[in-house]
Amino acid sequence: MAGMSKDAFLHELLGRMSVEEKAGQLNLLTGAMDATGMKHSDDLDTKIRAGRCGAVLNVYTPAATRALQELALASPLAVPLIFGYDVIHGQRTIYPIPLGLSCSWNLDLMERCARMAAAESAADGLHWVYSPMVDISQDPRWGRVAEGAGEDPWLGAKIAAAMVRGYQGDDLAAPAAVIACVKHFALYGAPMGGRDYNTVDMSRRAMEETYFPPYRAAIDAGARTVMTAFNDIDGIPASANRWLLTELLRGQWGFRGWIVTDYTAVTEMKNHGTAATDADAARQSLDAGVDMDRVSEAFLAELPDLVESGSISEGQIDAAVLRVLETKWDLGLFRDPLARCNHEAAIHLSVENRQLAREAARESMVLLKNEAGILPLSKHRTIALVGPLADSRRDMLGCWIAAGDEALAASPLDGFRGMAETIHARGCGISEGNDDLLAEAVRAAEQADVVVLVLGESWQMSGEAASRTNIRLPECQRELARHILLTGKPCVLVTMSGRPLELTWENSRFPAILHAWALGTEGGHALAEVVFGDAAPVGKLTMGFPRSVGQLPMTYREKPTGRPFDAAAQYSSKYLDAPNDALYPFGHGLTYGEFRHAAVAIDSPEMQPGGTVTVSAEITNLGAQPATETLQLYLRDLVASVSRPVKELRGFQRVTLAAGESRVVSFQITDADLAFPGRDFQPVVEPGDFEAMIGPSSRDLRVVGFSRRS
Ligand code: BGC
Repeated sequence: MAGMSKDAFLHELLGRMSVEEKAGQLNLLTGAMDATGMKHSDDLDTKIRAGRCGAVLNVYTPAATRALQELALASPLAVPLIFGYDVIHGQRTIYPIPLGLSCSWNLDLMERCARMAAAESAADGLHWVYSPMVDISQDPRWGRVAEGAGEDPWLGAKIAAAMVRGYQGDDLAAPAAVIACVKHFALYGAPMGGRDYNTVDMSRRAMEETYFPPYRAAIDAGARTVMTAFNDIDGIPASANRWLLTELLRGQWGFRGWIVTDYTAVTEMKNHGTAATDADAARQSLDAGVDMDRVSEAFLAELPDLVESGSISEGQIDAAVLRVLETKWDLGLFRDPLARCNHEAAIHLSVENRQLAREAARESMVLLKNEAGILPLSKHRTIALVGPLADSRRDMLGCWIAAGDEALAASPLDGFRGMAETIHARGCGISEGNDDLLAEAVRAAEQADVVVLVLGESWQMSGEAASRTNIRLPECQRELARHILLTGKPCVLVTMSGRPLELTWENSRFPAILHAWALGTEGGHALAEVVFGDAAPVGKLTMGFPRSVGQLPMTYREKPTGRPFDAAAQYSSKYLDAPNDALYPFGHGLTYGEFRHAAVAIDSPEMQPGGTVTVSAEITNLGAQPATETLQLYLRDLVASVSRPVKELRGFQRVTLAAGESRVVSFQITDADLAFPGRDFQPVVEPGDFEAMIGPSSRDLRVVGFSRRS
């Protein structure tokens, strides 16, 4: 190797490989430290020693990865392994679930969280994380909304890029960098009925306008790998979809990394009914552009025979193998394969990492409602902390916790105890009522000055394979809420979940609702800081909370329709039994304090081609304390060659104002903000009339018009 160029080295190595060894490099097997799918890999050690495995998932720690890496180094060609894992929101220090963290709208914070996860992963022997999940979703019945960044493609694209930068940094061989894996390509967030793994049926326009932008942004940010989705697209499973993987992803988008399937997706083509045999499934996948087969072992078993029979060429395999080997080179694996297997690092759950997780947790909470300023609570009052989640550490971590340890996490009670006199009562289970617990909770409420009810979903109720048709609080929790409200004590509701919930009933009964997702290792402490006013809530929803599950799927970015909503008109687009909009819309989130928003101004009513206009709005802090607001810019194209959404996010700025302070916040609009996929799906900017809207949520906006000249 000494002195050899990368290219020469990789080709020389490839030249020494048998077809079987090449197929081995394209084979990703699972270890047993975690189970993320139904199939287990047998004879892992034997396959590694024989050079029949290129990468391993679900094995971590320096000792465990070293044991397997040494087997690989003892194989005939000694090609080192890559170790991957589902590090979705932290490896040891767990930060909020991605949907929660996205509500911070703080891209720098998200990048720092990804950086921390990369460093902790690398210190655990890993090179590869199966993140970010950038699937847009407009349907909170789908349990995996917990893992994404919500409903908006523009914000989703910014977040996707920030996460990739955080994981990969500038140099993959740096000790704390990992390769990112953008998933699930593509459209996995739009299964019919919100049911996980279900088929997706989507127009090309929806793909281009809504679903593709975050994948594209992650690729543009340099994401090294892409994971295929489980679903089919136009009847062709994503893992066999040549249009998707080769024409679009590699051809049009210029993706230069490698493509791995999702778990056993190759052989699942037999269930899709598009392949009769493993051999046919493997052929279709390789032909479509897949490089690596996750766990199904169809590449390993079938590629050599497929070459032999002439169904695929060895050149196709070589191209895939080179992509994988190149990444191994870039990770520094050929120079020092054991670099990450040395010793447990001090960075795991370090003070700095916990501080970052605390900051992330604080910024992820969304204050949905706060009548009469009931929040924040005084620390001098006695609090009854009630509910099945009030003392749960595990549920605070959420789904996909990698090597996170619930024993090291803080529950709400852990946080409250350090702040105020707290009486704790569970009240009920997550889904089962209990009369004794209920009576105890009522007694606790009666003894206290204020009640904080912590209700919601357990960690298993969102994430993969966790779709729900009913996204309300479980009935026993409502029953608990009824009894607590009857005590007449002031009562604040804290909700925890991995998805937007249907909170219409709660909204009409509780004066204050704070949504706390699953906030991670430091969640309980961050929650207490916000409830008692040591920190103010700053989060803004990245996915609307529906009034009713019957509205789903839904988005604030809806198209205008030929018969727009008109409560008085019979033949307008509406429901008989509910308003059209969300209960809490995209962009909504309150803080402690009050602002005045003045009308929006524009520097010129006309925008020249290639030019700009600047829109601005004055915001005033009416409160007696400093306060923070995130102002959002939305645009609407009034007449275009294709129907454009009634509003679309195109900018945001977070401002902190001293008591009584006013500030003018400005946004510059350029052609890039007006561009959209035209009738031929190519980006186009059309002249005509536009509206610019600024405000604190997608529903609370002030409007100004302008024209873009031709
Ligand atoms: C999930 C992926 C995950 C993979 C890995 C699959 O079931 O869909 O998101 O990365 O398992 O284990």
